[in-house]
Amino acid sequence: MSSVLSCQQLSKVYRQGDVETPVLADLNLEVKKGELLAIVGSSGCGKSTFLHLAGALDLPSAGHVFINDIDIHTLDDKKRAKFRNQHIGFIYQFHHLMMEFTAEENVAMPLLIRGDAPKLAVLEARKVLEQVGLAHRMSHKPSALSGGERQRVAIARALVTKPAIILADEPTGNLDFDTAEAIYQLIKQLNQQVQTSFVVVTHDLTLAGKMDRQLKLDHGKLLPLDE
Ligand SMILES: Nc1ncnc2c1ncn2[C@@H]1O[C@H](COP(=O)(O)OP(=O)(O)O)[C@@H](O)[C@H]1O
Ligand SMILES: [Mg+2]
Repeated sequence: MSSVLSCQQLSKVYRQGDVETPVLADLNLEVKKGELLAIVGSSGCGKSTFLHLAGALDLPSAGHVFINDIDIHTLDDKKRAKFRNQHIGFIYQFHHLMMEFTAEENVAMPLLIRGDAPKLAVLEARKVLEQVGLAHRMSHKPSALSGGERQRVAIARALVTKPAIILADEPTGNLDFDTAEAIYQLIKQLNQQVQTSFVVVTHDLTLAGKMDRQLKLDHGKLLPLDE
């Protein structure tokens, strides 16, 4: 079986006027179906940049990203947005929930965007919120949720479309130890239930150590953690 995510010779150089900031250089990566991969690296080394390219949120300067064998950066904007909605889940470091909507509305949003009927979308959102332990918080807005609860809503939103892969940017970065552990347990459980692959960027070595594989982003490339 081929990889869920395949990055080939991926490079990113930010350009602002005459200033060039090279961040990723000929990076290669294969992630298998159902794999839990952790990527660690120092602040500013390019972890978020990498996730944004892998998640079709930003364009590479060179190279390719394949998800389920589709070269995502060759798709036009509309097709890419649709592909992202259907196949990729993204968990941001700071939840990025819509503050004026309830938990269930936030989670239903990706389904509404893909054209599901509102009633069905809300039913599905409720199911996933139950799965992440938030049955009692469906109609709360993010301002009435704790940090860990918001992050679980964000995970539910990433998961609701049953994507092939979830990309998570420091999902436990702002959480205390017990909440971080609960988030990890949730990732593991969902991974086992639905075979979703996860790429988790983290500086939390405890979390990283629990994944199937650990890589370090260093000088624009991914290396085994112990090199
Ligand atoms: N839009 C941008 N324009 C210019 N430089 C950027 C931009 N985004 C990030 N950078 C630079 O790229 C490097 C990697 O950033 P980032 O991927 O956010 O690192 P990390 O997530 O590992 O902390 C940093 O040096 C940052 O300053
Ligand atoms: Mg970052």
